[in-house]
Amino acid sequence: MLTHTQPWDAFRVEHLSVDYGGRPSPIKDLSLDLRAGEVTCVLGKSGCGKTTLLKALGGFVQAEPSGGVLFRGHYLRGPTPEIVMIFQENNLFPWLTVSQNIGFALKFRPPPGAGKKAAIRQMLDTVGLADAAHAYPHQLSGGMRQRAAIARALITEPQVLLLDEPFSALDVGLRRRMHVLMHDLWQRTGKTMVMVTHNIEEAILVGHRVIVLGARPARVLFDADTRAPDMRDRYAPAFLDLQKQLESYID
Ligand SMILES: Nc1ncnc2c1ncn2[C@@H]1O[C@H](COP(=O)(O)OP(=O)(O)OP(=O)(O)O)[C@@H](O)[C@H]1O
Ligand SMILES: [Mg+2]
Repeated sequence: MLTHTQPWDAFRVEHLSVDYGGRPSPIKDLSLDLRAGEVTCVLGKSGCGKTTLLKALGGFVQAEPSGGVLFRGHYLRGPTPEIVMIFQENNLFPWLTVSQNIGFALKFRPPPGAGKKAAIRQMLDTVGLADAAHAYPHQLSGGMRQRAAIARALITEPQVLLLDEPFSALDVGLRRRMHVLMHDLWQRTGKTMVMVTHNIEEAILVGHRVIVLGARPARVLFDADTRAPDMRDRYAPAFLDLQKQLESYID
């Protein structure tokens, strides 16, 4: 059950076209609504335009004038602090410690109330990195780096989190722990999240909705509601049925 749904759509993608120049446009005339307070997972073959779509949702690429992305009713003209994207490569600053990396985001948006140190400490606890506060990125495992990147994104309290294959480099155990972290995070904050992944099981387990994008131009091939309790059990018949269906689009 969703407990944090808002009456408005977070995003309305309206006749969105993105043209990188020269080649066929990866996204042409794509329309799609994303509801606030939901976790939407996006699947699709390599090169179909998933990252481009996330970048458009974050205001990081220019849409063609024939359409665009509306965020809470207004056309996005560029990046906004309300929407944070965690890129495929997590982009921590190698010369800063975990704490400093997380705190860096606060330079632009100081926290209200308890202050910067307390905010960083709380965020380290949230992502289970309290013991690694003073470590540098190269001293961390892949999963720890991803958690630090998530903490850095969350500390500014954005309304929307865009995640591009955040767990692709992790082993199965760590990946599952990250799914639990995502779920806990959503339960506590009800944030709108859009996560791109190549992992079908992950998409169903983490998302409230799973979308499959087709290529050239990107279009929605399949749109599944994955809020039912069965979709949190990877052995449930309904889960396995959906997994098989999704595989038929990706293979
Ligand atoms: N900056 C860019 N300049 C030119 N073309 C680009 C640029 N970024 C992406 N493209 C092209 O746009 C298409 C979609 O790329 P995109 O990165 O969105 O795919 P993707 O679905 O995220 O793929 P993957 O699963 O491999 O990450 C590809 O054909 C790619 O070559
Ligand atoms: Mg990509």
